[in-house]
Amino acid sequence: MKILVTGGLGFIGSHTIVELLENDFEVVVVDNLYNSKIEVLDKIKEITGKEVKFYKEDVCDKSALEKIFKENKIDGVIHFAGYKAVGESCKKPLMYYHNNLMSTINLLEVMKDNNVKRFIFSSSATIYGERETPKYVEEMGRGKTTNPYGTTKAMIEQILEDLYSSDNEWAISILRYFNPIGAHSSGLIGESPNGIPNNLMPYILKVASGGLDVLNVFGNDYPTPDGTGVRDYIHVVDLAKGHISALNKITKSGPGIYTYNLGSGKGVSVLELVKTFEKVNNIKVNYRITDRRPGDIAENYADPSKALKELGWKTEKTVEDMCRDSWNFMKNNM
Ligand code: NAD
Ligand code: UD1
Repeated sequence: MKILVTGGLGFIGSHTIVELLENDFEVVVVDNLYNSKIEVLDKIKEITGKEVKFYKEDVCDKSALEKIFKENKIDGVIHFAGYKAVGESCKKPLMYYHNNLMSTINLLEVMKDNNVKRFIFSSSATIYGERETPKYVEEMGRGKTTNPYGTTKAMIEQILEDLYSSDNEWAISILRYFNPIGAHSSGLIGESPNGIPNNLMPYILKVASGGLDVLNVFGNDYPTPDGTGVRDYIHVVDLAKGHISALNKITKSGPGIYTYNLGSGKGVSVLELVKTFEKVNNIKVNYRITDRRPGDIAENYADPSKALKELGWKTEKTVEDMCRDSWNFMKNNM
């Protein structure tokens, strides 16, 4: 089966391609390298010993997509391409709405024209918004999003639901990721954000490697066991495997719209993550407590039981693995 992976050279896409190749799928990749590097292709080959066909194109360019579908007999699409920085999306909302929505609409139109109706979408826990209970379950539905990035994800979920209602030959899986961190155990692929990171693990890595002096822990007065924010961290390799399970599910079960949380189900605080990182890597992470970050919530984590029941998928890797693999990738790429 031949899968088109958009945004495939990015953090989650690259790990998913490795899993696809290891499960004998053929892979075609389209990425405009906005937030990734062409060398990732060689790393994927080094890990798997297999080649993928690559197109350096923008998914907002419909004619480029038409060409890709003409040149390859695509059986399904996994759509990672998009912008993902929450803070930037508040400053440049039009850029986010344009890229995330246009890429998706173009892609769905070209898929429809080519009668390819298997689609997996990268959504996010952010679509739940802030809720009464910290444990997010799929049936809670979408809440009020707090930033344009999150709103693009909620809008695309709605577009996919409307598309399926209009034509129930589509087999669509919406995957709501919690907080992906970690890296492939080879240390060859991982996450390398540009500039000063916004997210916790990339920031810890910068401090541990001496690129930044101190980690700001955003508040220790939340109603959580140690007062710091609690999130559900998921190893990117577990997350990548979730895509294979979802692909197998939509292939086997056929048309439908299948929405799953992909998380571990376990909440981990900022300080727990920092302490675990220090312990497994035997390295000090200098930190200080600062004010809360505006817009942050105290705690959230997944109820991942639907993915277990329907996909037979659950996370295997521990927070220790995530900390070890993240640091291993950082050391290899400093
Ligand atoms: P990433 O930035 O590492 O990867 C995205 C890739 O898409 C990059 O390689 C980028 O160059 C490419 N891209 C962006 N716009 C494009 C376009 N118009 N045409 C072609 N290529 C384009 O991000 P990631 O962390 O791998 O995330 C993948 C997807 O998962 C994104 O849609 C993101 O919003 C979603 N997601 C990520 C997280 C997270 O914490 N990383 C959490 C929830 C959801
Ligand atoms: C945010 C986004 C989410 C996105 C995710 C990964 C929202 C509400 N959240 O999640 O959509 O999928 O990023 O890109 O849109 N922290 C610090 N110091 C730091 C950085 C973070 O203490 O320097 C704390 C935060 O307060 C939070 C935790 O670490 O408690 C995790 O933060 P982060 O990694 O930024 O992820 P989220 O905010 O959960």
